[in-house]
Amino acid sequence: MKVLMIVSHPRLETGSIANKIIAAEAGKLDNVEIRDLYRIYPQFEIDVQAEQEALEAADLIVLQFPLFWFSIPAMLKHWLDKVFTEEFAFGPGAHKLKGKQLLLSVTVGGPEGAYSRGGHFDATIDDLLQPMHLMASFTGMTAQDSIVSFGMMAGAEKAGEPSASEIQAPVHAEQLVALLKA
Ligand SMILES: Cc1cc2nc3c(=O)[nH]c(=O)nc-3n(C[C@H](O)[C@H](O)[C@H](O)COP(=O)(O)O)c2cc1C
Repeated sequence: MKVLMIVSHPRLETGSIANKIIAAEAGKLDNVEIRDLYRIYPQFEIDVQAEQEALEAADLIVLQFPLFWFSIPAMLKHWLDKVFTEEFAFGPGAHKLKGKQLLLSVTVGGPEGAYSRGGHFDATIDDLLQPMHLMASFTGMTAQDSIVSFGMMAGAEKAGEPSASEIQAPVHAEQLVALLKA
């Protein structure tokens, strides 16, 4: 199975704990191509053809991102807007993504309990990810169950102790890697 992992974190090398760990573990697999969008396109000038070719070659597309403002990072939205064109993703005679698998691999700063109906944000993470599921069905992809890690906020840990991200991200990565190997 060929896997394309689209990583969207504005500071993967210098400002990420969780996404950096997860991407590094997935990147050890031979069947995984990682495209770190903010690194490839610092000026947001997407090479649409290169992205479409990478997508076409993949069986499974993983979108790896931190939740930003209850949504996807700006680069990922920009990438979708530019790359998932009518000629490519959904128009007559297009549907190049049809039959592919999609997996959302998401890190979330807030605690899991806050993401519930009646909870602090009065919305579940599935509610927030619904547009991505609609995108998948609209383009003919099958969305697998998302992998989501909550409480991925650096700074709350006691001095000298590992952060929640440092503890949870390897668990998240292990779950993801098991799926990518399957
Ligand atoms: C611009 C920005 C917006 C964020 N918005 C949210 C949010 O809406 N909900 C939330 O739970 N966490 C939010 N966070 C926290 C990130 O989701 C969290 O820092 C990230 O998942 C941790 O992954 P990392 O270690 O790879 O950076 C936000 C962080 C930033 C920088």
